[in-house]
Amino acid sequence: MSKATAISCANIAFVKYWGRKSDALRLPLNSSISMNLDHATTITTVMFDPALNADQVTIEETETTEKAARRVSAHLDRIRALANIQMRAQVVSRNSFPMGAGIASSASAFAALTVAGCAAAGLRLDERALTILARQGSGSACRSIPAGFVEWHTADTSEAAYAEQIAPPDHWDICDLIAIAQTEHKKVDSTKGNELVHTSPFAQARLIEAERALPVIRRAILERDFATLGEETEQEAIRMHAVAMTSRPGILYWSPVTVRIMQAVRDWRESGIPAYFTIDAGANVHVLCQGTDAATLQAELRTLPGVLSVIANRPGPGSQLSENHIF
Ligand code: DP6
Repeated sequence: MSKATAISCANIAFVKYWGRKSDALRLPLNSSISMNLDHATTITTVMFDPALNADQVTIEETETTEKAARRVSAHLDRIRALANIQMRAQVVSRNSFPMGAGIASSASAFAALTVAGCAAAGLRLDERALTILARQGSGSACRSIPAGFVEWHTADTSEAAYAEQIAPPDHWDICDLIAIAQTEHKKVDSTKGNELVHTSPFAQARLIEAERALPVIRRAILERDFATLGEETEQEAIRMHAVAMTSRPGILYWSPVTVRIMQAVRDWRESGIPAYFTIDAGANVHVLCQGTDAATLQAELRTLPGVLSVIANRPGPGSQLSENHIF
């Protein structure tokens, strides 16, 4: 029996991953850039056990749905194939945030599963190989392996579609305030949304814009140019949601509270506080601000009707092994 535990941060994408050129390998249509979130984490323990005849998956102290368990087992199969073992595993996982509500729980979940699973199977992979493996579990998970600010490269082969650090966490004191507008499971998951991208008449236009924005956002991070990062990120989020809304069937992730927060962010900006929003596949709004404005904006966000809570995140570390097993 061998057991390992890993902790991974979720991440927020400034250039989004939305659409794939290969569903099986999860090769993205465009390169994306994100920041790890230090207060949105998943901790996962994996134990391979010869006495088990099936994988056992527990998330948040309850047995998972069959669909989620199958996805975890399929990822363990990738690890078993690389390690050349057959043993089934027990997997226990906990998040520091509500699942399926538009915080990228699949990113931190599959990053932690990859790192803990490989260690428990006795595999020693370098960071790039871990990103390639994590990507096959959930695309955005590859960006939660390196620390800080991360770019995931689009490519035609699995080996070339890896993620790497652009800048370490302490490069820039910026903050992502996640305003939780909803905690129940979203109706259309991002896997389905990603599959529908090609049905939107705006898919190609958004792809061209994402490719234009990529080097602009990378440069804004390297030069700590907050206005450019914010403006480009906000526009990219709206483009991604325009594609989701115009897919067939269309997906509307926003709730009235989402729109209220978007409007408040633009009002704050007009009043002179640099704040910008981005939104993943859910109703919650990520408000980007400079570290010096974080406390004020967090207090403002809490006063908006419908905002259930606010999670304040600074640039987070990469995925790490931990000695604190959770079973
Ligand atoms: C909107 O990585 O969750 O958060 O590969 O199917 O697991 P799968 O999709 P997932 O999609 C994330 C989409 C997004 C944008 C992003 O994080 O880049």
